[in-house]
Amino acid sequence: MKNIRNFCIIAHIDHGKSTLADRMLDITATVTEREKQDQLLDNMDLERERGITIKSHAIQMNHNYNGEAYKFNLIDTPGHVDFSYEVSRSIAACEGALLIVDATQGIQAQTISNLYLALEHDLEIIPILNKIDLPSSNPEEIGDQIIDLIGCTREDILLASAKTGEGVAEILDAIVERIPAPEGDPEAPLQALIFDSVFNSYRGIEAIFRVKNGVIKKGQRVKFMNTGKEYDADEIGTLKLVKDPQKQISAGDVGYIISGIKEAKEVKVGDTITSKESPATTAIAGFEEVKPMVYAGIYPVDTDEFEELRTSLEKLQLNDASLTFEAETSAALGFGFRCGFLGMLHMEIIQERLEREFNMTVITTVPNVSYYAYTKKDPDERLIVNNPSDYPDPAILERIEEPYIKAQVITKSEFVGAVMTLCIEKRGEIVGQTYLTSERVELTFDMPLAEIVFDFYDRLKTISKGYASFDYHPVGYRASNLVKVDILLNAEPVDALSALIHKSKAEDIGRKMCVKLKELIPRQQFLIAIQAAIGAKIISRETLSALRKDVTAKCYGGDISRKRKLLEKQKAGKKRMRQLGNVEVPQQAFLAVLKLN
Ligand code: GTP
Repeated sequence: MKNIRNFCIIAHIDHGKSTLADRMLDITATVTEREKQDQLLDNMDLERERGITIKSHAIQMNHNYNGEAYKFNLIDTPGHVDFSYEVSRSIAACEGALLIVDATQGIQAQTISNLYLALEHDLEIIPILNKIDLPSSNPEEIGDQIIDLIGCTREDILLASAKTGEGVAEILDAIVERIPAPEGDPEAPLQALIFDSVFNSYRGIEAIFRVKNGVIKKGQRVKFMNTGKEYDADEIGTLKLVKDPQKQISAGDVGYIISGIKEAKEVKVGDTITSKESPATTAIAGFEEVKPMVYAGIYPVDTDEFEELRTSLEKLQLNDASLTFEAETSAALGFGFRCGFLGMLHMEIIQERLEREFNMTVITTVPNVSYYAYTKKDPDERLIVNNPSDYPDPAILERIEEPYIKAQVITKSEFVGAVMTLCIEKRGEIVGQTYLTSERVELTFDMPLAEIVFDFYDRLKTISKGYASFDYHPVGYRASNLVKVDILLNAEPVDALSALIHKSKAEDIGRKMCVKLKELIPRQQFLIAIQAAIGAKIISRETLSALRKDVTAKCYGGDISRKRKLLEKQKAGKKRMRQLGNVEVPQQAFLAVLKLN
């Protein structure tokens, strides 16, 4: 155990985590070129294209230091706010962390919040300034930021270029010197922390774990303490990009287990593996059920494809346990599913995967958070409202609560005013303001999660000219004053366009939605009235005038190839239109409320 080092990398997206990991694997000769290619082929397309580590993995490498052989387990962490619970479990599996900061960019919100998590778990932090090969790098000033933040000395900071390889050998040595060896009792009953899982369509779910105490053995009967389920450890081993099966894995080390589990739901990140025969008395602390934060309806564009959509969602859920769905009906859209996601990025990923991997064309409705409602009849009974159409009649409503988050924004001092204005407009309350340097400020807010869903990222980026980073964590539910804003097309309410909105903003948003819908809905052969209403009260109206004559017929009449092109275009456009009553509504209209400014 004294020659094992377990660590993760904390870095903001694009600061060089993957490049540095690759360089370390090269230097320690862990992977051959051939294996690297295979691994690349293995990875999810989407993950590669987006350059975001959607699912974390672990990899083992060997490093010689002063003539002694060391075993390193590099535990990868997901790099996006939606996956913060998974990050916390990966961190719980480590004794140290490499804090990588791009020497041209400086520290970002994501880095800070993960760094705090690492400090909470008493990890040893090795600060690294990366990209020092770039002329625009500024190791002096950004070094100061790091010193302020973690209270280290300048000598503690390593300078590196993951691209050229400069400084990487020093990082490997520092891992041995500074990160403590794991502690744990190999004689004690087995306790292994599951911090990740990987879907394998042939062999079932592979759970990735860190053994805290005891030994896990091939063939052993094991029990997952939080789900209570039992399995045979058909195969266990270590991960070196390719799996390396082992007879046993002892306290302090990291490995995978394959036990014929078919559904991702059974392997919960944060669960503890113990032995059936001589079980541990307690599970490792910190287990949480991951709950969806954002809900939206997903409907097939072609109503015949409802069953196909169900099958696709079921398949997606096999390898993504954080996706939830249940059938629902919408008066406007027919049969579909109410899906729960970890956040907005997760929602986009699922929608894209449905389209690319399953060839489905779907309509996604306005996302919303999950509300708690209490009625006068039984003020103690909590109703969970995941869909605005389930919102109880205001006449019987006692109170409603909505989820709040602690939001962290890091930006340049010149944008502080604009960021504050935005956060306050989003019903946020400033709880902290810290100057990281004279140039960079960290702002902390309490704000409703729903406001993040509604067009927050884009506006933050715009007002800060791209110089703001953002992170958030849920902090529980608070009472709120919400109303349901309905949209009517030619006097018919369209349930899929309803949204729960804070009372102070409802009229304004209702008005803006009508204007936006007027832009988005194409003119048709007849006049269309677009109205917003709160209960029976109409708060806004726009009128879309009727189309007078068919202009395209005249323009393109002569040219058959151009006409065909136009028809094809129309057909493609059609795919995403839905007939609501007699009005054709394009997909963008269902998300209009997200882009009102
Ligand atoms: P995610 O996978 O999106 O989280 O990003 P990451 O942090 O893993 O960053 P990645 O390693 O993909 O690097 C981002 C970009 O920076 C890539 O274009 C790299 O080639 C580049 N890069 C990484 N390290 C260095 C470096 O030391 N010097 C220079 N010049 N470029 C680097």
